[in-house]
Amino acid sequence: MSDSSLPPSLHTALKDLLGPAGLLTGTDDTASYCTDWRMLYQGRCAAVLRPASTEECAKAVALCAEHGVPMVPQGGNTSMVGGATPDDSGRAVIISTTRMNRIRHIDHGDLTMTVEAGVTLKAAQEAAAREGLMLPLSISSEGSADIGGVIATNAGGNNTVRYGNARELTLGLEVVLPDGNTLNLMRRLRKDNTGYPLRQLFVGAEGTLGLITTAIIQLQPSPRSRETALCAVQSPEQALALFAAFRKHDPSAVLAFEYMSGTSMNLVTTLIDNCTLPLSEPAPAYALVELASTRSDDSLRTLMESVLEQAFEEELISDAVLAESETQRQSLWMIREEHAEAQKRAGASVKNDVSVPLSAIPAFITEATQRCEALIPGIRVAPFGHIGDGNIHFNLVQPEGGDSQAFLSQDHAIMDTVAEIVRKYDGSFSAEHGVGQLKTYMMPSWRGGAELATMEKIKAALDPHNLMNPGKIFPAA
Ligand code: MLT
Ligand code: ZN
Repeated sequence: MSDSSLPPSLHTALKDLLGPAGLLTGTDDTASYCTDWRMLYQGRCAAVLRPASTEECAKAVALCAEHGVPMVPQGGNTSMVGGATPDDSGRAVIISTTRMNRIRHIDHGDLTMTVEAGVTLKAAQEAAAREGLMLPLSISSEGSADIGGVIATNAGGNNTVRYGNARELTLGLEVVLPDGNTLNLMRRLRKDNTGYPLRQLFVGAEGTLGLITTAIIQLQPSPRSRETALCAVQSPEQALALFAAFRKHDPSAVLAFEYMSGTSMNLVTTLIDNCTLPLSEPAPAYALVELASTRSDDSLRTLMESVLEQAFEEELISDAVLAESETQRQSLWMIREEHAEAQKRAGASVKNDVSVPLSAIPAFITEATQRCEALIPGIRVAPFGHIGDGNIHFNLVQPEGGDSQAFLSQDHAIMDTVAEIVRKYDGSFSAEHGVGQLKTYMMPSWRGGAELATMEKIKAALDPHNLMNPGKIFPAA
């Protein structure tokens, strides 16, 4: 909610600069910006600023900086870790990127898209597809998440296994710094060794070093053929063995390789409309594989069929369905993409967006499952995720019919239990969702010493008054 507590001179200057569509101060107008997607945080803000251009954004940031007003950059507001939600002091303004929403240019020669921060990832993907190109970043929240947000959080998602994270796809950036100056790093070069790669500082900085306003993103030619299959497996070991089989035949063909536990799949098929299991019976776990190629012959189909045939023979899989049309392909993906929503509907959940080396995934899942089940009887262990790149969403859903607040009050105990096993296998406590405000408390023990101290020095150099997205990444002093 907003308490309209902007200093009067700042209020007047922002009103003149942004006009009525660009400045929201009423409680009703600002409420939805103050809560995160998971509804874990309820913040307050002095106003929501909606600049329509980099110039407006830079001037608004300069005005806020002059008045010492904290700023919280916000894109599609889909953070899983409260990364775009203000605290409850009501002092901060939220700077929403939604009105900076133009796709400026798609370049077929350079295979790039120049795009403003407020364009949703889905709109950007569709624009590329209309031109016969592919923007190879794909995440469950792509319909709402915007380009600025996915770059600021270095989003990963389904195609990391082949094309990397947002970082690998971001060639150029334009950033408004915390003092209102604009840093123009809009180069579309694959090679550029001219000092520190500054743009990389802002990718994954979660808006703590500046606000991304425009980006140049690397595209790929659109695939002409895709083959997608959902397979029933007995265990994560089998899912990984299946992944290895595809990789061995042709590593360049695998566009996505996803894992879904039986518990998580069961939540989707029971809680989401139009999501039925397209296999003859439920299995302990599932793998969703997508192959893609720019060749239009039937070589991908041959590859898919021969790997699956061999996997049947070796009893790696017990059942499989292959998409026979684009509609079927989309329904298989819908089952995967609805996992986060289904878990939300099932009650409170504690998300552990972790990564471990591929070889450690089975042992990690087994040990973490046992430890969590011992910690909270009845807890629903519902892991799924991007197993092909080592990223497991080791999510825990509250016991059925239990008290959600009581469950959430144990979130640190649960996260710490899982983190201990992640550490044992040299993994990361946040693979793709970032730190936000949910996981700041983990930073000293995971990234402490020289690593956190170096991050603090960079933050202090660019944002000496801690005005840009305060309370995120860094633990409270
Ligand atoms: C996904 O891959 O669907 C999200 O990143 C996962 C989540 O909800 O934990
Ligand atoms: Zn994910």
